[in-house]
Amino acid sequence: MSLSDRFIVHEHDVLVIGAGGAGLRAAIEASGAGAKVGVVCKSLLGKAHTVMAEGGMAAAMGNVDDRDNWEVHFSDTMRGGQYLNNPIMAEHHAKESPDRVRELEAWGAVFDRTKEGRILQRNFGGHRYPRLAHVGDRTGLELIRTLQDHGIHQGMEVFMEMTIVGLLTTGGRIAGAIGYDRERGRMRIWRAKAVILATGGIGKSFRITSNSWEGTGDGHALGYLAGAELMDMEFVQFHPTGMVWPPSVRGILVTEGVRGEGGVLRNSEGKRFMFDDIPDAYKNQVAKDEEEGWRYVCGDKNANRPPELLTRDHVARCINREIKAGRGSPHGGVYLDIGWIKEKIPNASAHIQRKLPSMYHQFKQLAGVDITTERMEVGPTTHYVMGGIAVDGDTQMSCVPGLFAAGEVAAGLHGANRLGGNSLSDLVVFGKLAGEHAAKYARSTTVAEIDTAQVEAHTRAIDEPFERRGGENPFTIQSALQDAMQDLVGIVRTEKEMQLALVKIAEFKGRHAKASVSGTREYNPGWHTAIDLTFMLIVSESIARSALERKESRGAQFREDYPEKSAECGTFNLITKRGADGTMTVARRPIVPMRADLKAIIEKMK
Ligand code: FUM
Repeated sequence: MSLSDRFIVHEHDVLVIGAGGAGLRAAIEASGAGAKVGVVCKSLLGKAHTVMAEGGMAAAMGNVDDRDNWEVHFSDTMRGGQYLNNPIMAEHHAKESPDRVRELEAWGAVFDRTKEGRILQRNFGGHRYPRLAHVGDRTGLELIRTLQDHGIHQGMEVFMEMTIVGLLTTGGRIAGAIGYDRERGRMRIWRAKAVILATGGIGKSFRITSNSWEGTGDGHALGYLAGAELMDMEFVQFHPTGMVWPPSVRGILVTEGVRGEGGVLRNSEGKRFMFDDIPDAYKNQVAKDEEEGWRYVCGDKNANRPPELLTRDHVARCINREIKAGRGSPHGGVYLDIGWIKEKIPNASAHIQRKLPSMYHQFKQLAGVDITTERMEVGPTTHYVMGGIAVDGDTQMSCVPGLFAAGEVAAGLHGANRLGGNSLSDLVVFGKLAGEHAAKYARSTTVAEIDTAQVEAHTRAIDEPFERRGGENPFTIQSALQDAMQDLVGIVRTEKEMQLALVKIAEFKGRHAKASVSGTREYNPGWHTAIDLTFMLIVSESIARSALERKESRGAQFREDYPEKSAECGTFNLITKRGADGTMTVARRPIVPMRADLKAIIEKMK
């Protein structure tokens, strides 16, 4: 029997896996270049983690402060990433994001405006000037809406509610992908000359996360299994402010935009604890007192930023410290207070509701808290992974010919820590580049023959949970994995705990190999979870192994046993690879050297 007798087979020049900001922007670009494009998404079109980048999109447009330019944005991004970033990517990003904002506007995005009618930009952590183009606190949503509307007119074919279980390669180059529809469980094959991974993040490997159910690291693991390298996986971003109460909404994001609009963090004693600990690299940029911090929020160019607008890694650790010291809120967080601005401005309640409409409704409806008068309880939540598929900085192609990656699933731009707002710009800058280069690559090649042995192996593997009897429920293993990652590879790490995490991950793998599901392939969430677990276990192992290997504290990685930054560790990125025998290895790779002109920019900004 031929493949098309057994499977639904699709054929495209470029297949995009993932339909968040990066996937849609890549698909638009590749379609525009004449490629026949397919877009596969695990969920419904438009339901992506992109919407969780609420507070804005970083782009040095200089609309609010004309001292801003791409060089300042470049140096802020490199400093935030503690210089492990790929400088070529940071350069593309800083130079091209203003054009990507203007393009979104031309395609229908309705950004907030300054009094003069320019696109309004707000303050965010680690950005020297107000830089985040925004739509209230719903910027990611507006970005997705705009790309979706624009994209459907480009002729791309969209496949919703599909899980990809494997990438297909032939002779080492990409040949397509295999997966199934989540409603009925029918297998499909997508033949393609080029594949772009745009699957987002890995947050569901942790217990507390802003990620929705889709964030199981599929693209990271698919790429790894197909021979691509994972890089910087030790760097997982814990966003400082997620909801902590009630338990059903724990982890949901509370946008950094609250702090950008003047929100302050307080402990149970009412103290603004962020003033207690200012990192050396930012000492000359942080307000000396509350009054100066407020003047900064109001746009005084001579004032320095409040300490709540330091980088996320630092703010999350300070919150963690307060909670551990017993100065937390009743439900294990700290307080975020925006209502206090009523002391400073008239009609503060209406102002807050206009600037932060989603936060107002989120707290009112989910927690019964009126943020215009009451403090929010917040704590760190797993939000983003800086690590991902290692790609070429100019083309976004991985080491597997024909396999590209863009957005959160790709590594390089953010180094050891991402600045808030740099993800929306990342998605559109590198989505565009990936789409352009994948289309170019597709023009230069023919579609490869499908290796039927790989198809058979994937078909067998996804059927196995049905064939086993009396095994464990996959949800139990998933939950144990999330607990282990949260408790042993979380915000504060030690060798002993991470060794234990690796022992547990090996044990979970054994349990996963024996897990069973009942019923049929139709509407079967237990079966979907058994498949997700394959990806989650790979990603978790890669994070734990890389975090163990990096014996220092830098950016998002804080090691209690190595609390200082080491100069030597600043010279390499960590690469996770699959060995010939299927085991995972971690190796050091020298960081991408910085061109002399870029170095000079960093020096100038210091
Ligand atoms: O806090 C936020 O609005 C998140 C933004 C981001 O992750 O870039």
